[in-house]
Amino acid sequence: MSKSLAAGRRIFEGIEALAEISENPDNLTRRSLTIEHKRANTLVGDWMAAAGMQVRTDAIGNIIGRYPGQTDGPALLLGSHLDTVRDGGRYDGMLGVLVPLACVEALHAADEKLSFPIEIVGFCDEEGVRFPSTLLGSRAIAGTLPEQTLRETDDDGISIADALRDFGQAPTALDSARRESSDFLGFVELHIEQGPVLEREQLPVGLVSAIASAARYRAVVSGKASHAGTVPMEMRQDALCAAAECILAIEAIATALPDTVATVGQITALPGAGNVIPGSVEFLIDIRAPTDQDLAVAEQNLHNELTRIAAERKLTIAPDRYYAASGVSCDSALSAQLRNAIQNCGHRVVELPSGAGHDAMALAAITPIAMLFVRCKEGLSHHPDESITLEDADAAAQVMLRFLRDFNPNARAIQST
Ligand code: GLV
Ligand code: MN
Ligand code: MN
Repeated sequence: MSKSLAAGRRIFEGIEALAEISENPDNLTRRSLTIEHKRANTLVGDWMAAAGMQVRTDAIGNIIGRYPGQTDGPALLLGSHLDTVRDGGRYDGMLGVLVPLACVEALHAADEKLSFPIEIVGFCDEEGVRFPSTLLGSRAIAGTLPEQTLRETDDDGISIADALRDFGQAPTALDSARRESSDFLGFVELHIEQGPVLEREQLPVGLVSAIASAARYRAVVSGKASHAGTVPMEMRQDALCAAAECILAIEAIATALPDTVATVGQITALPGAGNVIPGSVEFLIDIRAPTDQDLAVAEQNLHNELTRIAAERKLTIAPDRYYAASGVSCDSALSAQLRNAIQNCGHRVVELPSGAGHDAMALAAITPIAMLFVRCKEGLSHHPDESITLEDADAAAQVMLRFLRDFNPNARAIQST
């Protein structure tokens, strides 16, 4: 595999082909349950079938391929997501589907079956860009996606249930996407690092220790719209000025707490005219922290600051916590096997936490999880310039193939006795 970089080339071909499937001809935007997502699923499904996998789409729109083992039984689950942010990169999510696929292609080409089945999932939604909720695909599999979530709507008023119908799935069948713990030996997600550590360490891959906790808020500031030329400054209830103060306060809160980050990435001011004082503003807040306890501290500080600013400016600020995900630690026994594979491929092992959210967070509810990060250029992600090298893609495939071939499904039992 390594000398010819065959796996790396195959992965890059797949990345290029998927990057062509976009809602916008000028950039890569593929939100979940769109026609483009369906096309991506079809393409990946075709590749899975050609690699000897049994392919199906589940009730939430995940594409799933199963490569049989020497005997039937619980599968080792691999994969990542096929949706993207708006104007996103081509590796975030897709690499985690294409590297395992290259491994199964190699096994299939060698007519090799492992002692256990492998399943690869292209999850339907990890970015949470189209609908308020995120991790729809992985939470449906874990059985932690409440049915009422399907009523949430996108900016065009289309509900998840309607989008699923258009996608060709029956929303009433949501429960059929749910899998049991006994179906899996574990879940391993490969993902670009989305940060600069591996580049600094000059390593192609790294072992993930844990995934950060996250919360998202929609904050509505209600002031008073009025004439921009006539209301004295001290008599205004300018919602946009209040929002600006909130945004800087949010930055200060995260800066003051260790390993905590907070972002306001979207804001709308109404009525939206140059000569009208903004009366109403809505903005989105994203907060991440190493643990749920750390996140709770940041959220308490957020509430305190929004309350203070609202009182000082004599207007109301209503934060609505519309999404939260608990942080998780990677499983030590499963990670130990991944660590061995990294070492056996000749790489030093560096462990690092993930600040970004991943489908593995949801899967952790039903099965042990582990994650492998792949170095990306300048740590850049959620950006069209996101990039990795073909050599690193190949190195990641070698590590994963080594991991699969050496994988001991009983290692947990052995460790605990
Ligand atoms: C997903 O990329 C997230 O962490 O927001
Ligand atoms: Mn991702
Ligand atoms: Mn992402």
